[in-house]
Order: sequence, then C-alpha cells, then structure tokens
Amino acid sequence: MKKILLVIFTLIFFCMTAASVNAAESDDLTIQLKIDSPLMLVNNEEKTIDENGTSPVIVKSRTLLPVRAVVEEIGGSVEWDADTKTVGLQSGDNNIKLEIDSATAYLNNEPYTLDTPPAIIGGRTMLPIRFIAESFGLEVIWNGEEQTVTIVKKSDIQTERVTSAEAATESTTAEETTESDNNILVVYFSATNNTKGVAEKIAEAAEADIYAITPAIPYTDADIDYNTECRANKEQNDDSARPEISGTVENMEDYDTVFIGYPIWWGQAPKIMYTFMESYDFNGKTIIPFCTSGSSPIGTSAENMQGLTQGAKWLEGRRFSGGASADEVRGWVNSLGLK
Ligand SMILES: Cc1cc2nc3c(=O)[nH]c(=O)nc-3n(C[C@H](O)[C@H](O)[C@H](O)COP(=O)(O)O)c2cc1C
Repeated sequence: MKKILLVIFTLIFFCMTAASVNAAESDDLTIQLKIDSPLMLVNNEEKTIDENGTSPVIVKSRTLLPVRAVVEEIGGSVEWDADTKTVGLQSGDNNIKLEIDSATAYLNNEPYTLDTPPAIIGGRTMLPIRFIAESFGLEVIWNGEEQTVTIVKKSDIQTERVTSAEAATESTTAEETTESDNNILVVYFSATNNTKGVAEKIAEAAEADIYAITPAIPYTDADIDYNTECRANKEQNDDSARPEISGTVENMEDYDTVFIGYPIWWGQAPKIMYTFMESYDFNGKTIIPFCTSGSSPIGTSAENMQGLTQGAKWLEGRRFSGGASADEVRGWVNSLGLK
C-alpha cells in the first residue's frame, strides 16, 4: 500500500513540476521582425505578419508595421475605429490610443509625443512598434546590420528576479552580508524639479541611490527664460559649453548601472549633462537615460552623449512628462529587468 501511495505522490509531483515548467516556458516570448519581410519569428516559429503579406518599414528611423499579429502574440487586443481613424490597443492593465497621422499617442490616457506618427501605407495601418512594445513593458532590440527588431517579453527575467531574491534571503541566513548590495545609481539634473520628481520615483522603484547634479552657478529664472537670449539658450548653442558642477559622486566605481536624467532643452540634454558624462569613467557600466520635457521626445539627446562614455552600454532612453505617475515610472523600471 505504501509503495502504491509513493508512486501516486511521485506521479502527482512530476505532473505538477512539468505543468509549472511549461507555464514558465509558455510565458517566454521572443518575436523577431525584419524590415521588408512579411514573416516574423515567434519563438523561432515562422509566421506571417498579416494575410496581405505586409512587411515592416522604416519611416524617419522608426519601424512601423501592422501590429495586430504582434499584439495578439503577447496576449493583447487591437480595435480599429475607421470613423475616427484611431487604434486602441490593450495588454494587461495598459491601454494605448493612437490616431493616424497624429504625433500624440495616449498611454493610459497620458499624452505622449511620437517622433513618427501612425500612417496608412499601401492601404495598411502602420504603427510605431517600439512605442507600443515598450509601453506594454516589452524590451525592443534593434539590429541595424541585420535590419531586425526583436521584441522580448521578459517573464524570464521576472523569474530570475524571484530566484535571486530567494537566493539572497538564503545567503543572509547563511552568512553576514554588507549593508546593501545595491549597484544602481540615479543621477539627474533638474532646473524646475520636474526631472527631480521622476528621478526620485525611479530611485524608489529600482531601490537605487540618487545623486543630484548641482550647478556651481545655479540657474536663475532669467537663466532659463528660453524666450529670451538666456544663459540656457546660449549654452545649448555652444558646442564647447561645459557648465561647472558643484560636488562629485565619490563612489562611482560601486555602481554598474547608472540612470541619467535631464530636462530637454531645445531637443537636447543641457550641457551640464555633458560636463557630468565627461567627468567619470563609465567603462563597463550600463547607462539608462531618461528625460522630462514639455512635449519633445527623447530624440537624439541621449545618442549625442554616447561618444563621451567609452566602453559603456547605453540602453534605450525614455521621456516622461513632468507629472509622470509613480506607477508609470515603476512600470518602465520593472520592464528593464534590473533587479
Ligand atoms: C531652455 C529650455 C529649453 C527647453 N526646450 C524644450 C524643448 O525643446 N522641448 C520641450 O518639449 N520642452 C522644452 N523645455 C521644457 C522642459 O524640457 C520641461 O519643462 C522639463 O520638464 C523641465 O524639467 P526640470 O523641471 O527638471 O528642469 C525647455 C525648457 C527650457 C528651460
């Protein structure tokens, strides 16, 4: 009798383990799209993007495609309203509204400025895949050489996080640990506190340390009155401007991931950010830019600082409105899979 019970328990255990492994595996998703190819690879399985053989295209350096297939693969839904020419996308708790030829998109009713608006091309509704995928918390990797966009659903990283958290708990009981094993720093410059607010929310979500870049000569209201010949405008127009910073990050070597945040000034990062980036060795570090602005996207502002940080890995940046909610910021931080 004991033996029979043992066999039954063993069978149940195996079934449960197999089920949970399958569930974990089924959550992992990689979708690869190629410019001008009507096929996509979904976890390496070839599928057509749509029944008309539509392929992704690049418009103003952004990839557009009919997103229904991709959104449905990640378990979301798409609604098209032909009267208003709007598209509604839903995935989990997030919803996006896009309008053909409009640069304003809405993520959970918050407006965002797109650098490439949705368009109708060859009779198909083509949408900016990066904005959509990132808004749904997916990672988007562009390979310029191969002209591919890879979209990764990061359930694997969530699992890893749980595992490493468990491992950390185990090791705390086994041995003495240092105060904190945090290796993430959030650095920001903020003239009117918008970026400061977002930086603080990032630091909280990432359990990171935070450092404010303080100008040696503070910016007065007149200095940032951009409708005049103000100090900020002059600096932005001067390639060699490097406003001095008061204070330093003493222990930069302790951090391997550094968020850098700034307001957009005339489409770019303020020159004091250049001073900061040139002041430290970022070799081997991961840099994650973020910004706040009235409406401009992050655009080329981060790209234009990359040459200042040899050996650093830059991740795609993100623009927030000054009043970004803690949930929105946390959603983005979580999508990076840092912890
Ligand atoms: C000199 C200057 C230039 C600006 N240029 C832009 C711009 O090009 N696009 C934009 O959307 N907002 C622009 N803004 C608005 C700021 O990006 C926005 O208010 C930002 O959230 C301010 O962040 P802060 O409070 O952290 O300084 C500019 C502001 C200043 C002072």
